[in-house]
Amino acid sequence: MDLGLAGRTFVTTGSSRGLGRAVTDELVAEGANVVIASRDADRAREVATDLGDQAHGVRVDLRDPAAGVELAEEARNRFGALDGALVNHWGPPSGAALEVTDEAVAAALDLGVAAVVRLVRDIGTRLQEGGAMLVVGSVTVREPADALVGSTVSRPGAWAYIKQASRPLGERGVRVNMLLPGAFATERLRELSGGVAGDSAFVRDVPLGRAGRPEEFGRVGAFLLSPMSSYVTGASLVIDGGSSRSL
Ligand SMILES: NC(=O)c1ccc[n+]([C@@H]2O[C@H](COP(=O)([O-])OP(=O)(O)OC[C@H]3O[C@@H](n4cnc5c(N)ncnc54)[C@H](OP(=O)(O)O)[C@@H]3O)[C@@H](O)[C@H]2O)c1
Repeated sequence: MDLGLAGRTFVTTGSSRGLGRAVTDELVAEGANVVIASRDADRAREVATDLGDQAHGVRVDLRDPAAGVELAEEARNRFGALDGALVNHWGPPSGAALEVTDEAVAAALDLGVAAVVRLVRDIGTRLQEGGAMLVVGSVTVREPADALVGSTVSRPGAWAYIKQASRPLGERGVRVNMLLPGAFATERLRELSGGVAGDSAFVRDVPLGRAGRPEEFGRVGAFLLSPMSSYVTGASLVIDGGSSRSL
């Protein structure tokens, strides 16, 4: 299926590896241009070189209040347009509810809520009619995870903002959605599982019997950023091999 992404330009944050990289790879494979953001300038350049002429890498820390505006300008300067963005970032600190520190809560809210709000606002208001944004969250929007207190306290806040922002953005013809991953075989999952992503507590209860592959996430992400999902906005989609039990 042709997703209609050829020639469109997207900013993709948290795209140097894992799920963000998987969506970025799929956008490029569909013919889109991408501005890749990483905290490490060399890494951003390496990924862009790997992807070819359709990609441009920049160093950005999403905690910087100017990040969204700078990324939008970078896309316009480099490719002459901006059609959308993937907003992805590092996973909040793990830990149990009664051991969580003030610093861990502050860090989770700083990147997981404040940075997401800024990026959706600052990039979303710079998009033309037909623009699309996608934010990567977690199934913790639907169900608290015992070992992931940072994610449990921050993801629902980001989702609430996206839902609220989807109305005024929708009136401008701009869409915004959230993808809620369960267990995917990335560095993050390996870190959380003590190095054994394939057989950790995170995948034991998955009806499909395994962790997701990043490319399975990438394909759904590219669809939600494409004109093929033109009537989908203000929506959150769980992508977890069937593991969550909430209705
Ligand atoms: N994998 C899973 O099973 C799973 C499940 C549920 C939710 N999630 C969530 O999905 C997201 C992606 O997961 P992942 O497994 O792909 O994670 P990952 O492998 O750890 O990748 C995270 C990405 O975020 C970037 N990043 C981190 N902090 C940043 C900052 N301050 N500014 C800019 N970029 C930043 C990293 O880039 P640089 O280091 O190059 O800056 C990297 O590209 C995370 O939020 C994670 O919590 C993942």
